[in-house]
Amino acid sequence: MNVLILMGSPRKVSNTAELCKPFMEELKANGADVRYVTLADKEIHPCKGCYACQKVEGSYGCVQKDDMHAIVEDIQWADLMVLATPIYAWFCPACMKAVLDRHYGLNKFYGKAKGSLWAGKKVAIIATHGYEGDYATSPFETAVQRLCKHSKLNYVGLYSVEDEDDLASFQTEEAMEGTRVFARKLLK
Ligand SMILES: Cc1cc2nc3c(=O)[nH]c(=O)nc-3n(C[C@H](O)[C@H](O)[C@H](O)COP(=O)(O)O)c2cc1C
Repeated sequence: MNVLILMGSPRKVSNTAELCKPFMEELKANGADVRYVTLADKEIHPCKGCYACQKVEGSYGCVQKDDMHAIVEDIQWADLMVLATPIYAWFCPACMKAVLDRHYGLNKFYGKAKGSLWAGKKVAIIATHGYEGDYATSPFETAVQRLCKHSKLNYVGLYSVEDEDDLASFQTEEAMEGTRVFARKLLK
Protein backbone atom coordinates (compact mmCIF):
# COMPACT_ATOMS: atom_id res chain seq x y z
CA MET A 1 0.00 0.00 0.00
CA ASN A 2 1.20 3.52 -0.80
CA VAL A 3 0.81 5.78 2.23
CA LEU A 4 1.15 9.58 2.21
CA ILE A 5 1.56 11.27 5.59
CA LEU A 6 0.90 15.02 5.58
CA MET A 7 2.32 16.41 8.84
CA GLY A 8 0.77 19.74 9.78
CA SER A 9 2.69 21.03 12.79
CA PRO A 10 4.63 24.26 12.26
CA ARG A 11 7.02 23.34 15.10
CA LYS A 12 10.54 22.09 14.35
CA VAL A 13 10.42 19.79 17.39
CA SER A 14 6.85 18.59 17.22
CA ASN A 15 4.64 16.27 19.26
CA THR A 16 2.81 15.22 16.13
CA ALA A 17 6.02 14.45 14.25
CA GLU A 18 7.19 12.43 17.26
CA LEU A 19 4.00 10.36 17.17
CA CYS A 20 4.48 9.77 13.45
CA LYS A 21 7.87 8.06 13.99
CA PRO A 22 6.66 4.67 15.36
CA PHE A 23 3.62 4.91 13.06
CA MET A 24 5.82 5.21 10.00
CA GLU A 25 8.22 2.51 11.17
CA GLU A 26 5.31 0.11 11.61
CA LEU A 27 3.87 0.92 8.19
CA LYS A 28 7.25 0.23 6.56
CA ALA A 29 7.82 -2.94 8.60
CA ASN A 30 4.52 -4.22 7.23
CA GLY A 31 5.46 -3.56 3.60
CA ALA A 32 3.95 -0.12 2.95
CA ASP A 33 5.66 2.47 0.76
CA VAL A 34 5.58 5.71 2.73
CA ARG A 35 5.98 9.35 1.74
CA TYR A 36 6.19 11.90 4.58
CA VAL A 37 5.66 15.59 3.90
CA THR A 38 6.20 18.35 6.49
CA LEU A 39 3.70 20.92 5.25
CA ALA A 40 5.35 23.83 7.11
CA ASP A 41 8.41 23.39 4.86
CA LYS A 42 6.27 23.87 1.76
CA GLU A 43 4.89 26.93 0.03
CA ILE A 44 1.13 26.40 -0.11
CA HIS A 45 -0.96 29.48 -0.73
CA PRO A 46 -4.59 29.76 0.36
CA CYS A 47 -7.28 28.83 -2.17
CA LYS A 48 -8.41 31.92 -4.10
CA GLY A 49 -11.87 30.47 -4.80
CA CYS A 50 -11.48 31.40 -8.48
CA TYR A 51 -12.99 28.16 -9.83
CA ALA A 52 -10.43 28.03 -12.67
CA CYS A 53 -9.70 24.39 -11.67
CA GLN A 54 -13.32 23.52 -12.43
CA LYS A 55 -12.81 24.15 -16.15
CA VAL A 56 -9.86 21.73 -16.44
CA GLU A 57 -10.80 18.11 -17.04
CA GLY A 58 -8.47 15.22 -16.13
CA SER A 59 -5.85 17.19 -14.19
CA TYR A 60 -5.65 19.35 -11.07
CA GLY A 61 -5.86 22.62 -12.97
CA CYS A 62 -5.05 25.09 -10.18
CA VAL A 63 -3.59 28.33 -11.56
CA GLN A 64 -1.39 28.97 -8.50
CA LYS A 65 2.27 27.99 -8.95
CA ASP A 66 3.39 26.55 -5.64
CA ASP A 67 4.15 23.27 -3.86
CA MET A 68 0.51 22.13 -3.85
CA HIS A 69 1.06 20.59 -7.29
CA ALA A 70 3.69 18.19 -5.87
CA ILE A 71 1.34 17.37 -2.98
CA VAL A 72 -1.42 16.59 -5.47
CA GLU A 73 0.96 14.17 -7.23
CA ASP A 74 1.64 12.53 -3.85
CA ILE A 75 -2.12 12.30 -3.15
CA GLN A 76 -2.70 10.67 -6.52
CA TRP A 77 0.14 8.20 -5.84
CA ALA A 78 -1.28 7.27 -2.42
CA ASP A 79 -3.82 4.60 -1.57
CA LEU A 80 -4.06 6.05 1.95
CA MET A 81 -3.58 9.68 3.01
CA VAL A 82 -2.90 10.35 6.69
CA LEU A 83 -3.56 13.84 8.04
CA ALA A 84 -1.15 14.07 10.99
CA THR A 85 -1.94 17.25 12.86
CA PRO A 86 -1.91 19.12 16.13
CA ILE A 87 -5.30 20.58 17.00
CA TYR A 88 -5.18 24.37 16.72
CA ALA A 89 -8.29 26.36 17.68
CA TRP A 90 -10.30 23.11 17.42
CA PHE A 91 -9.11 22.54 13.87
CA CYS A 92 -5.72 22.18 12.17
CA PRO A 93 -2.89 24.69 11.65
CA ALA A 94 -3.09 26.99 8.63
CA CYS A 95 -0.67 25.00 6.46
CA MET A 96 -2.94 21.94 6.60
CA LYS A 97 -6.11 24.00 6.22
CA ALA A 98 -4.62 25.42 3.01
CA VAL A 99 -4.11 21.88 1.68
CA LEU A 100 -7.67 20.90 2.61
CA ASP A 101 -9.11 23.99 0.91
CA ARG A 102 -6.95 23.41 -2.16
CA HIS A 103 -8.59 19.98 -2.67
CA TYR A 104 -11.03 21.76 -4.97
CA GLY A 105 -9.29 20.88 -8.24
CA LEU A 106 -9.41 17.19 -7.33
CA ASN A 107 -13.24 17.36 -7.40
CA LYS A 108 -14.67 18.59 -10.69
CA PHE A 109 -18.13 19.26 -9.33
CA TYR A 110 -18.78 22.94 -10.10
CA GLY A 111 -17.92 23.74 -13.73
CA LYS A 112 -17.72 22.28 -17.20
CA ALA A 113 -15.10 19.69 -16.19
CA LYS A 114 -16.49 16.53 -14.60
CA GLY A 115 -15.22 13.68 -12.42
CA SER A 116 -12.91 13.12 -9.49
CA LEU A 117 -9.14 12.70 -9.42
CA TRP A 118 -9.09 11.02 -6.00
CA ALA A 119 -12.37 9.19 -5.34
CA GLY A 120 -11.98 5.90 -3.47
CA LYS A 121 -8.78 6.74 -1.62
CA LYS A 122 -8.57 6.07 2.10
CA VAL A 123 -8.11 8.93 4.60
CA ALA A 124 -7.08 8.70 8.27
CA ILE A 125 -6.17 11.19 11.00
CA ILE A 126 -3.41 11.21 13.60
CA ALA A 127 -3.94 14.07 16.06
CA THR A 128 -2.26 15.53 19.12
CA HIS A 129 -4.08 18.00 21.36
CA GLY A 130 -4.14 19.75 24.73
CA TYR A 131 -7.75 19.03 25.65
CA GLU A 132 -9.11 15.56 26.34
CA GLY A 133 -9.73 13.09 23.45
CA ASP A 134 -12.98 13.47 21.59
CA TYR A 135 -13.67 16.97 22.98
CA ALA A 136 -10.44 18.15 21.33
CA THR A 137 -10.64 16.21 18.07
CA SER A 138 -14.31 15.94 17.12
CA PRO A 139 -14.68 19.29 15.23
CA PHE A 140 -11.72 18.46 12.98
CA GLU A 141 -12.71 14.81 12.61
CA THR A 142 -16.29 15.77 11.69
CA ALA A 143 -15.04 18.16 9.02
CA VAL A 144 -12.73 15.53 7.53
CA GLN A 145 -15.51 12.92 7.58
CA ARG A 146 -17.80 15.34 5.73
CA LEU A 147 -15.09 16.25 3.23
CA CYS A 148 -14.55 12.53 2.61
CA LYS A 149 -18.25 11.89 2.09
CA HIS A 150 -18.50 14.89 -0.25
CA SER A 151 -15.43 13.76 -2.21
CA LYS A 152 -16.26 10.02 -2.25
CA LEU A 153 -13.19 9.20 -0.16
CA ASN A 154 -13.13 6.39 2.37
CA TYR A 155 -12.59 7.73 5.92
CA VAL A 156 -10.96 4.98 7.97
CA GLY A 157 -10.44 6.47 11.43
CA LEU A 158 -8.46 8.51 13.92
CA TYR A 159 -5.74 7.89 16.48
CA SER A 160 -4.97 10.69 18.90
CA VAL A 161 -2.89 11.37 21.99
CA GLU A 162 -3.29 14.17 24.52
CA ASP A 163 -0.40 16.52 25.22
CA GLU A 164 0.11 16.28 28.98
CA ASP A 165 3.87 16.80 29.16
CA ASP A 166 4.95 18.00 25.69
CA LEU A 167 7.26 15.56 23.84
CA ALA A 168 7.34 13.02 26.68
CA SER A 169 3.59 12.36 26.28
CA PHE A 170 4.26 10.97 22.83
CA GLN A 171 7.26 8.84 23.79
CA THR A 172 5.42 6.57 26.24
CA GLU A 173 5.10 2.90 25.34
CA GLU A 174 1.30 3.32 25.41
CA ALA A 175 1.31 6.19 22.89
CA MET A 176 3.81 4.48 20.59
CA GLU A 177 2.09 1.08 20.74
CA GLY A 178 -1.20 2.83 19.94
CA THR A 179 0.28 4.21 16.71
CA ARG A 180 1.63 0.76 15.77
CA VAL A 181 -1.78 -0.86 16.31
CA PHE A 182 -3.38 1.94 14.27
CA ALA A 183 -0.82 1.46 11.45
CA ARG A 184 -1.57 -2.28 11.25
CA LYS A 185 -5.32 -1.61 11.27
CA LEU A 186 -5.00 0.82 8.36
CA LEU A 187 -3.05 -1.69 6.28
CA LYS A 188 -5.76 -4.37 6.56
C1 LIG B 1 -1.74 28.03 18.67
C2 LIG B 1 -2.17 26.76 19.39
C3 LIG B 1 -3.51 26.45 19.44
C4 LIG B 1 -3.94 25.31 20.10
N1 LIG B 1 -5.27 25.01 20.11
C5 LIG B 1 -5.69 23.88 20.71
C6 LIG B 1 -7.08 23.55 20.72
O1 LIG B 1 -7.93 24.25 20.20
N2 LIG B 1 -7.45 22.40 21.34
C7 LIG B 1 -6.56 21.55 21.90
O2 LIG B 1 -6.97 20.49 22.41
N3 LIG B 1 -5.22 21.85 21.92
C8 LIG B 1 -4.77 22.98 21.33
N4 LIG B 1 -3.43 23.27 21.31
C9 LIG B 1 -2.44 22.31 21.88
C10 LIG B 1 -1.76 21.49 20.79
O3 LIG B 1 -2.70 20.87 19.96
C11 LIG B 1 -0.85 20.40 21.37
O4 LIG B 1 0.09 20.97 22.23
C12 LIG B 1 -0.15 19.62 20.26
O5 LIG B 1 0.39 18.42 20.79
C13 LIG B 1 0.98 20.40 19.60
O6 LIG B 1 1.56 19.56 18.62
P1 LIG B 1 2.88 19.92 17.81
O7 LIG B 1 4.03 19.97 18.78
O8 LIG B 1 3.00 18.81 16.83
O9 LIG B 1 2.64 21.23 17.15
C14 LIG B 1 -2.98 24.44 20.70
C15 LIG B 1 -1.62 24.79 20.65
C16 LIG B 1 -1.22 25.94 20.00
C17 LIG B 1 0.26 26.28 19.96
